[in-house]
Amino acid sequence: MIKVGVVGYGVIGQRLADGVILQEDMELVGVAGNSKPTLAIRALKEKGMPYNLYMASFENKELFDELDIPLSGTLEDLVQKCDVILDATRAGVGAKNKELYKKYNKKAIFQGGEKNEVADVFFHGYANYDKGVGKDFLKLTSCNTTGLIRTVDCLDKAFGVEKIAITIIRRVADPGDYHRGLTNALKVDPAPSHQAVDLMTIMPHVQATGILVHTPVTHGHIITVVASLKEDINKEQLLEVFKAHPRIRVVKIADGFQGNAALFRYARDLGNPRGDMYETAVFDETIVKSGTDIMFAINIPQEAVVIPESIDAIRAALKMQVDGNEAVSLTNKYLGMGKWM
Ligand SMILES: NC(=O)c1ccc[n+]([C@@H]2O[C@H](COP(=O)([O-])OP(=O)(O)OC[C@H]3O[C@@H](n4cnc5c(N)ncnc54)[C@H](OP(=O)(O)O)[C@@H]3O)[C@@H](O)[C@H]2O)c1
Repeated sequence: MIKVGVVGYGVIGQRLADGVILQEDMELVGVAGNSKPTLAIRALKEKGMPYNLYMASFENKELFDELDIPLSGTLEDLVQKCDVILDATRAGVGAKNKELYKKYNKKAIFQGGEKNEVADVFFHGYANYDKGVGKDFLKLTSCNTTGLIRTVDCLDKAFGVEKIAITIIRRVADPGDYHRGLTNALKVDPAPSHQAVDLMTIMPHVQATGILVHTPVTHGHIITVVASLKEDINKEQLLEVFKAHPRIRVVKIADGFQGNAALFRYARDLGNPRGDMYETAVFDETIVKSGTDIMFAINIPQEAVVIPESIDAIRAALKMQVDGNEAVSLTNKYLGMGKWM
């Protein structure tokens, strides 16, 4: 059993812990918060403390005592007990925590907000699993890049991709992020978007560029992709490969999947915890040809989409599987991916 610790119990950290628990070949030693009893930590207590809680700082210990929240030790204690750490702290904190992981000679997986330099390899479970095998520090792609690479890699393996151009319609905050303000405006970033640049770091043979537009919504990003493939394929060929991919779900607007909110609601109707979705959805009716290029729109459920690839990263770093296909299949199996197929 590989012993895993999750550091940072926010939007991503909570979901990483839930994902690790489902892996039959991994054990979750505990989760670490920062210093305060956040809502996520209060919810953990109200759920009966399914995970042991460690804290980076004990400066507010009396608040935890008042709320009767048991603490299992310090962040340093947690690190010592683990084989690998999933660091899901706020961007920039992971780089500082890395010193602690190095001190105890522990491997760590960082999330997309950290700078690339934090890690030995910028990682995606499907596109470059081999590069992560045996490495000490891996960094995951961001939510948009993770979902985007799933589709581009899927097409690349089937037909070869030469070039893509994307437009990202980006949700501006996660639900409950009051600190981002109450907004009603769209905001355009200078091109190329980091997601296109990041994709080229992981898939250097693909030319990628793109534009990102922030939108005042919280349930999911939508990306439109125009792909130039090495073969001139039709919609049916594209659908065939997407439908065979356990992390890509093809949905129909005609069935009611009109956009991000419909998918979020469907995930809630499925009874998924918090309405989480691990999969990237492709809207069937958006698939169109533009000359020999092919265009489509995908939905990125930002809060949960990076969980499968984060688990893949543990498998690579710990050499649990040397073969990428075997690794992603196990992650998919334990997370229950592709149940709709
Ligand atoms: N949210 C998304 O949609 C999304 C998607 C993909 C990737 N990511 C990436 O995932 C990472 C985490 O993002 P997030 O949205 O989950 O952030 P978040 O909700 O703000 O959670 C970060 C958590 O880390 C805690 N923390 C801060 N310093 C810590 C420390 N030294 N030790 C332990 N815990 C500490 C924070 O606690 P306090 O609040 O008490 O400081 C907070 O609970 C970032 O790199 C982000 O770019 C986010």
